[in-house]
Amino acid sequence: MTKKENEKYLVTSALPYANGDLHIGQIAGAYLPADVFVRFLRLLDKEVIYICGTDEHGAPISIKAEAENRKPRQIVDKYHKIIEKGFKGLGIDFDNFSGTATKTNTELSQKFFLNLYKKGYIRKKNSKQFYCEACGRFLSDRYVEGICPNCGAAGARGDQCDTCGTLVETLELEEPVCKICGSTPIVKKTTHWYLDLPKFENKLKNWLENKNYWKENVLNFIMGWIKQGLKERDITRDLDWGVPVPLEEAKEKVLYVWFDAPIGYISSTKEWAKKIGQPEKWKEYWQNPHTKIIHFLGKDNIPFHTIIWPSMLMEQDKTYNLPYDVPANEYLNIKGEKISTSRNLAIWVSDYLEYFEGEFLRYVLSANAPETKDSNFTWQDFQNKVNNDLANVYGNLANRVFSFAKSNFKGLIKQPKNFNRKSEDVLKQVFEIVGKIRDSYQDYRVRKATKFCIDIARLGNKYFDETEPWKTIKNDSALTEKTLYICLEILRIISIVFYPIMPQKNRELRSMMSLKKEPKWANIFSENLEIFHISNVKPLINKISDERIEQQQELLEKMYKGDEEKMEHKEEIPFEQFSKLEIRIAKVIEAEKIEKSNKLIKIKADIGGEVRQVVAGLAKYYKPEELVGKKVTLLVNLEPIKLMGEESQGMILAGENEEDISLLIPDKDIEQGAEIH
Ligand code: 2FM
Ligand code: ZN
Repeated sequence: MTKKENEKYLVTSALPYANGDLHIGQIAGAYLPADVFVRFLRLLDKEVIYICGTDEHGAPISIKAEAENRKPRQIVDKYHKIIEKGFKGLGIDFDNFSGTATKTNTELSQKFFLNLYKKGYIRKKNSKQFYCEACGRFLSDRYVEGICPNCGAAGARGDQCDTCGTLVETLELEEPVCKICGSTPIVKKTTHWYLDLPKFENKLKNWLENKNYWKENVLNFIMGWIKQGLKERDITRDLDWGVPVPLEEAKEKVLYVWFDAPIGYISSTKEWAKKIGQPEKWKEYWQNPHTKIIHFLGKDNIPFHTIIWPSMLMEQDKTYNLPYDVPANEYLNIKGEKISTSRNLAIWVSDYLEYFEGEFLRYVLSANAPETKDSNFTWQDFQNKVNNDLANVYGNLANRVFSFAKSNFKGLIKQPKNFNRKSEDVLKQVFEIVGKIRDSYQDYRVRKATKFCIDIARLGNKYFDETEPWKTIKNDSALTEKTLYICLEILRIISIVFYPIMPQKNRELRSMMSLKKEPKWANIFSENLEIFHISNVKPLINKISDERIEQQQELLEKMYKGDEEKMEHKEEIPFEQFSKLEIRIAKVIEAEKIEKSNKLIKIKADIGGEVRQVVAGLAKYYKPEELVGKKVTLLVNLEPIKLMGEESQGMILAGENEEDISLLIPDKDIEQGAEIH
């Protein structure tokens, strides 16, 4: 395939707020679909860069910083690292992962603001805003919740009602409450700068006119917005963390996080260009009209990317490319419930990666992608998909073909001179599915693509069963070799078409077949190998046992429950409640690592005549043998819980920061069993 001159793609995923770990819902909505698409484009030999970074300003960060008693910068640094590690673990591979609180982004955002301001698209207005007296802060958009004035649904945010999709006027929310502390806010005067969206209405309509190739859910959302009539949007905030508004009279204000966040896409591209030693190259992506910019995101981000962001881009001093496509996804629910980070009803990426391979989640979220409607995640379904589709179909095909080729042909399978009818038929069917897979990737239908990939493996297994090589080997070695060649062809094709979804596993598959590490789509049809060489065969997929899934379910249930308990204990507690805690000196007599976990150590500790078993998350900071003999402090009157199938009958006390954990140990030698007061 030849490269079309100048055709380039810039793919982005919504910048995640740097105020927490990622959850699998975000992965399913904005990151995995983009990563799969980018890998697909690369298979086609297209020129593409994939850009992201953390969203580092705004109230979410300030509030988290207050909660953790740190500076916003520290919060941003902490979560940037955690988020980046999560992406790596899932094989989500950006060309650049930056952040919005950089000098480049600050300067560029201020420039964007001034350009709009000078052209008369931004104006100052005195306004009124909800102010929470208990928290001492103005409550912007998402920090006030109430009843939607349009549809009457509860839980509408200050900027948008997710139930009816209306753009809410914050002050019109009925029965408003401060989301941080739950009290009723007052209305207070302030001054803000507004982006004059009504002035963009016609330009936006013209631009959107030929976007009939966009996803239906996205178009519906935008039409809803435009129908209501665009309103001016305040783009400044009374916060002390953010990009300073570049106007003398607005010294105390910062830009609204949604103003500088999408500009982060450009800044991150600039950073990438610098890193590769071609600082001007970012312009080829943002200013050359042959580049297609594609923003992947969750549905709550649609208006910002299709109305506000294009408006900001339209009236700059230079011409910028507007988004070519905005393939937004719906939501992933967990066990039928909407993911809620505040209730800890979420599966966090770093927790997931403690227990399972990143590739399994890629597969399950692809097979279940919330593309046209919300979808659902359960651990049971996760196990079924891994065991039934990946292990029994895909992994099984590789295992049986490879082991048969190894034991009967020393792993060397030659191309036959001609194919028989049956093999031609099966290859024809495979090529038909390959065409469908290509169309599915092209249309962002990863869910379909995933199903088709497994369908090819199913065909391979069926072909193997029907040709019965274990029988033909007894008297027709040439025919058997033919059968195996076809099976290997099928596996070779799978290793290409399935690669965007499971890059790691398919690389392993290719390596066992001595194929080039990086696949190319064009090779599906042109490779024509004279011989397959099978070597270093290992099982591709290990099944997940019922026990592991049960443990996972149990652990998560406890986590949600534990977290609710923790939240209840956040307030100050009276002294008499503290005295209810029974803390004792405990001597560690045995310690061993829990095999399946990177974090957990199982400890037996003597608390003065009684031995308690405790499961503690210390494995990254202490070796089990270092613990034996130590006297530690142990909270003993907790209800026992099970972690990874092991009962934990207490909690060892320790000090913790980002890098380390240090056990709380008595200063003088004191008998085990002694109580702490
Ligand atoms: O909703 C969010 O998580 C936002 N941080 C997304 C920002 S996308 C972009 F424009 F930067
Ligand atoms: Zn409050």
